[in-house]
Amino acid sequence: MDRPCRSHGWKVSWKMLPLAASVLSSCFLLTRAQETTGISIRVVPEVLKEGDSVTLTPEGLDLKNIASCKWYRGAVEERNMIISFFRPPFSGETKGPAHTGRETVKPDFSLYITDLKPADSGIYSFKPEGPGVTITGATNITVSGYVTNITISDSGKAIENSTTVLHCTSAGTNVSYSWLRGNESLVVGERISLSNNNQVLTFNPTSRNDSDSYSCYGYNSFSNDSTSYLLNVLYGPDVPEIGPSEHYYAEGSNLTLSCTADSNPAAQYTWSFNETSDIGSASQLSIHNLQFHHSGNYTCKAFNNETNASSTSASREIWVLETLSNPVLWPAEAIVAENASVSLQCNTSNRLDVNVTWFKDSNPVLDKAVLFNRNRNLTLTAVSKDEEGMYTCKATNPVSKATSNPSKISLAYGPNNVKLNQTGTVTLKLGSRLALLCTAESLPEAQFRWFFNHTNMNVTANTFSTDLTAWEDGGNYTCQAYNSVVKKLASASVNVKLTTQESTPPGSGLTPGQIVGIVIGCVLGVALIGGLGYFLFTKTALGRTEQHSSNGNIPSAPGRNQGVTDTKPTPGEEDIQYSTLAFKANHPPQPQPAATRPLESNIIYSEIKKK
Ligand SMILES: *[C@@H]1O[C@H](CO)[C@@H](O)[C@H](O)[C@H]1NC(C)=O
Ligand SMILES: *[C@@H]1O[C@H](CO)[C@@H](O)[C@H](O)[C@H]1NC(C)=O
Ligand SMILES: *[C@@H]1O[C@H](CO)[C@@H](O)[C@H](O)[C@H]1NC(C)=O
Ligand SMILES: *[C@@H]1O[C@H](CO)[C@@H](O)[C@H](O)[C@H]1NC(C)=O
Ligand SMILES: *[C@@H]1O[C@H](CO)[C@@H](O)[C@H](O)[C@H]1NC(C)=O
Ligand SMILES: *[C@@H]1O[C@H](CO)[C@@H](O)[C@H](O)[C@H]1NC(C)=O
Ligand SMILES: *[C@@H]1O[C@H](CO)[C@@H](O)[C@H](O)[C@H]1NC(C)=O
Ligand SMILES: *[C@@H]1O[C@H](CO)[C@@H](O)[C@H](O)[C@H]1NC(C)=O
Ligand SMILES: *[C@@H]1O[C@H](CO)[C@@H](O)[C@H](O)[C@H]1NC(C)=O
Ligand SMILES: *[C@@H]1O[C@H](CO)[C@@H](O)[C@H](O)[C@H]1NC(C)=O
Ligand SMILES: *[C@@H]1O[C@H](CO)[C@@H](O)[C@H](O)[C@H]1NC(C)=O
Ligand SMILES: *[C@@H]1O[C@H](CO)[C@@H](O)[C@H](O)[C@H]1NC(C)=O
Repeated sequence: MDRPCRSHGWKVSWKMLPLAASVLSSCFLLTRAQETTGISIRVVPEVLKEGDSVTLTPEGLDLKNIASCKWYRGAVEERNMIISFFRPPFSGETKGPAHTGRETVKPDFSLYITDLKPADSGIYSFKPEGPGVTITGATNITVSGYVTNITISDSGKAIENSTTVLHCTSAGTNVSYSWLRGNESLVVGERISLSNNNQVLTFNPTSRNDSDSYSCYGYNSFSNDSTSYLLNVLYGPDVPEIGPSEHYYAEGSNLTLSCTADSNPAAQYTWSFNETSDIGSASQLSIHNLQFHHSGNYTCKAFNNETNASSTSASREIWVLETLSNPVLWPAEAIVAENASVSLQCNTSNRLDVNVTWFKDSNPVLDKAVLFNRNRNLTLTAVSKDEEGMYTCKATNPVSKATSNPSKISLAYGPNNVKLNQTGTVTLKLGSRLALLCTAESLPEAQFRWFFNHTNMNVTANTFSTDLTAWEDGGNYTCQAYNSVVKKLASASVNVKLTTQESTPPGSGLTPGQIVGIVIGCVLGVALIGGLGYFLFTKTALGRTEQHSSNGNIPSAPGRNQGVTDTKPTPGEEDIQYSTLAFKANHPPQPQPAATRPLESNIIYSEIKKK
């Protein structure tokens, strides 16, 4: 416990003290000789304080009749006798029981006391002795003591809300008291009061804020003293608080909770988890490598061993959560028919604290999306071009977030533009091999089927080949493309004619009009040439026509170009050759005609080659 000690700031405080009282107190320090009996006794000096010397002189004595005298401290009783004194010629003195070693008697019977003590205060009686002397004298002196040994005592522990009393005492005479709190004068009021000549300082009730250094200052007219006392108000513990306020922790992370309660002295802490108490006994609770089973309620209890009070915190719920791994979004790709619906499944933890959100091309998905199964299932209804894109789902819990693989959603189309790499009618030699390639624009990829005449050939590749070994192998070869999502069929056919001859050179197919034109052109050309020279004329004018197919490198069968007049190639050294090409759109008997590109049908290409 704190014991009073001397304030080192006292000198400063001293100046602030009221000194007016000293004038008043001087009056009380005066000690006038009082004639209690016949003989009056003069006291010099009149005012006595500790350490002084005093002379008590009996006045108006007839010294002739007095041979000796006795001085008493108190009444004239043997036990009070200080000294007995004999005048010359019997000079001598006898010390009595009340002699302190500081008293002497002078020849005029005056009593001289040195080094006065407060305890010397009181009645002094004088008894002269001689024939017929009966008169006595007495006086009452007061020796004022220095203010010393100033002490503040307490009434035990100072505890908040109870009453605390500080008592200031000192040795000294006519001591006045005042108090300081710290270096300021004490402010008294309802709760803090002074009583009993300012000696008693009472806190009722005591507040924790009253803890401070208190000084008691005692003073009289000639001295002062002070001491200070450190008031330590015990309180608490207040309701402890657990920090930090975070509720969620990732599995494997470290948890550090701290408990704080205002308390004096500092509280002692204990921790509980769920119903298990005493899992820790420091203000901090640390758990490394958190696991799910650490989830639960944590509370801490604070105990003040001085007030014997304890207080328990509110419980802090702690949840240990998994660090999410990337969700798997399924399917990773979806091709959807227009206006159809599609569902995406985001596979992630099913725990309630795991939220799933969806993104399309990095933007939150809003339109036409219907969410099921706590957002883990996204269903797009009536898919249109707007819904095409890359979808991702993001799983979040309070401690982590993870994004899925992308899922590509595209709108199905086709089959459009179904084509065979040979069209129309091709004439092939019996025994040759027919090889066909079928293409179609389709999403998803078209599924192919091949038909000869109307027989399914059980071929599902985009190519078909067969050896044309019999006359019956001539006929319609059809490629059928099927989009399983759109559920649409489209096909393309080629009509194969068989012949024993070699197939005609490519591009041999001209309309009668074209041939007429060619013939006329040739005739005109030949006539022109014929006019140029005699020898040329004699060689006859016979045009030679070379016909080409411009359809890539595909050799055309003669039957492909209806109404073509084949002109026999005539070898010669003409400088000009004429090429005429013509295509007609072919519409083979197909369930769904393939969309045709304009460039490849109904357009006649004419080419004049100059050699
Ligand atoms: C002596 O004087 C003091 C102060 O005046 C007084 O308090 C005290 O009672 C007196 N003593 C006697 C015995 O009269
Ligand atoms: C000081 O005061 C205390 C209590 O009043 C007392 O016990 C002690 O003897 C005193 N000390 C001196 C030196 O006067
Ligand atoms: C004192 O009273 C206050 C207010 O009523 C209260 O909050 C505090 O806990 C009490 N202190 C003690 C130690 O009882
Ligand atoms: C948890 O504490 C351990 C031991 O002090 C330390 O090695 C580890 O790095 C800490 N883990 C984290 C996530 O801070
Ligand atoms: C944990 O605390 C919550 C509310 O704070 C309470 O509802 C729950 O019952 C507590 N659980 C346990 C095991 O104490
Ligand atoms: C602690 O309490 C929480 C909340 O009631 C509960 O979920 C958890 O399983 C409990 N843990 C233990 C180890 O008892
Ligand atoms: C309170 O605890 C402190 C520190 O442990 C100790 O020093 C003090 O003596 C204790 N007080 C009581 C009253 O037990
Ligand atoms: C998603 O929800 C839709 C509508 O409820 C349902 O038809 C579909 O089967 C669900 N998909 C998955 C993968 O659960
Ligand atoms: C989950 O989403 C809901 C609604 O958006 C939100 O209120 C909640 O806080 C989220 N929970 C988590 C753990 O993110
Ligand atoms: C058609 O495609 C098939 C398969 O690729 C190929 O073998 C054949 O030569 C092609 N025919 C023509 C005329 O290009
Ligand atoms: C195709 O398969 C069907 C059923 O297996 C069969 O009846 C048919 O004869 C096959 N067609 C050809 C051309 O092989
Ligand atoms: C296919 O059709 C063609 C012409 O229509 C016919 O000449 C041929 O014999 C048919 N082939 C078979 C195997 O039916």
